[in-house]
Amino acid sequence: MTNSRIAGFYKLTLDEKLDALAKASEGTPPDFNLLTAQQADKMVENVVATHNLPLGIGLNFKINGADRLIPMVIEEPSVVAGASFMAKLARKGGGFYATTSAPEMIGQMQVLDVADTHAAKMAIYEERDNLLAEADTIDPILKKLGGGARDLEVRIIENSPIGKFLVLHLIYDVRDAMGANAVNTACEKLAPRIETLTGGRVHLKILSNLSDRRMARVRCRIPVEALAFGKAPPQGEKQASPETKSPRPLRGRAEGGGFSGEQVRDGIIEAYAFAAADPYRAATHNKGIMNGVDAVVIATGNDWRAIEAGAHAYAARDGKYTSLSTWGKDDEGNLVGTLEMPMAVGIVGGATKVHPTAQAALKLMNVKTASELAEIIVSVGLAQNLAALRALATEGIQRGHMSLHARQVAIAAGAEGGMVDKVAAQMVSEKVVRIDRAEEILREITA
Ligand code: MEV
Repeated sequence: MTNSRIAGFYKLTLDEKLDALAKASEGTPPDFNLLTAQQADKMVENVVATHNLPLGIGLNFKINGADRLIPMVIEEPSVVAGASFMAKLARKGGGFYATTSAPEMIGQMQVLDVADTHAAKMAIYEERDNLLAEADTIDPILKKLGGGARDLEVRIIENSPIGKFLVLHLIYDVRDAMGANAVNTACEKLAPRIETLTGGRVHLKILSNLSDRRMARVRCRIPVEALAFGKAPPQGEKQASPETKSPRPLRGRAEGGGFSGEQVRDGIIEAYAFAAADPYRAATHNKGIMNGVDAVVIATGNDWRAIEAGAHAYAARDGKYTSLSTWGKDDEGNLVGTLEMPMAVGIVGGATKVHPTAQAALKLMNVKTASELAEIIVSVGLAQNLAALRALATEGIQRGHMSLHARQVAIAAGAEGGMVDKVAAQMVSEKVVRIDRAEEILREITA
């Protein structure tokens, strides 16, 4: 059984971290082999090199009762640490509870030049069973695994720059694949039948990245006392504000120098309300979610552009862009968060199979189905969202960012080995994290 809690992990050397990971996952050390240029040359065109990014391990995650060690690929400091810390808080409330819908993708066919769109719509529905049976023969392996064509939906677009036309959705269960290839092939194969049935011309045949039939959902509960940090104000110090008669909103640190659990919880709920109501804030709020989501999507060799496109289109599904997550409190006053978003990821085929690091990532997580992977990804997204809101609602984001950012700046200034931490510490103490200052400090230390 995997144990996702590894005390002091961040203090270990690289080799010690790999050993600790092997012990915690009861396996051999994960083989995070890099993709070679030779392998990459078979994946895309005009390859001359590969590009590496840091891979860190998200710790403390308990998802549907099971511990998971989660590889996260990201260049931004604080994301892995933030998600791991929030997963630790969520554990106190039982961890993350995640579900997925059936792995159904939508393939779209744009049918133009249809004289009578209504009659064409009816004709397609009347042929539904035969069309689905034909689409089902297209991928026998998928069929054998329990996937295949599930349904057809016909939509009429009334107003477009070229006027009215018909759109056919083919709903296809792609099981553990991302599914783009299966769906695109099925749409291309069905197109001639659709043209005969409708008398029209099938123009585009391509999957939709708004994969809202393939959803992942997650919730977590953080006991309110677990949210307190620093030296919280003494009990009873909370005052009702005259307007709301509710606890006074956060106004900087309390005298004790910290925040009570209630203060942090209410600050997070207020921050969420901002994102729920304002698209300018929602974009940044959702970006924080995607910091966690993309990190796992990339680690597993999945198509992060598809996930991003689906997430943002889903966030605007009601005509106004809004938050993908929600934050509120339960009857006992605990913080409760949810996240729902499309999650079209696979564990077979494509880069997932070819990329050695993606293979190691799936192995470390002990993921057996694409649905399990989707559940892990939304859990990390929710944890990451919480990390950002907690920081923003209390001491601000810069403090946490500062020391890691300072290390990056020190490295950029040419610091190596033990010098990196020295230069970074000096900049943080001076509250000046800039490359010119890093270069100066480096010159002073090495003079
Ligand atoms: C930075 O990468 C992400 C945040 O801006 C997210 C947020 O504001 O919620 C901190």
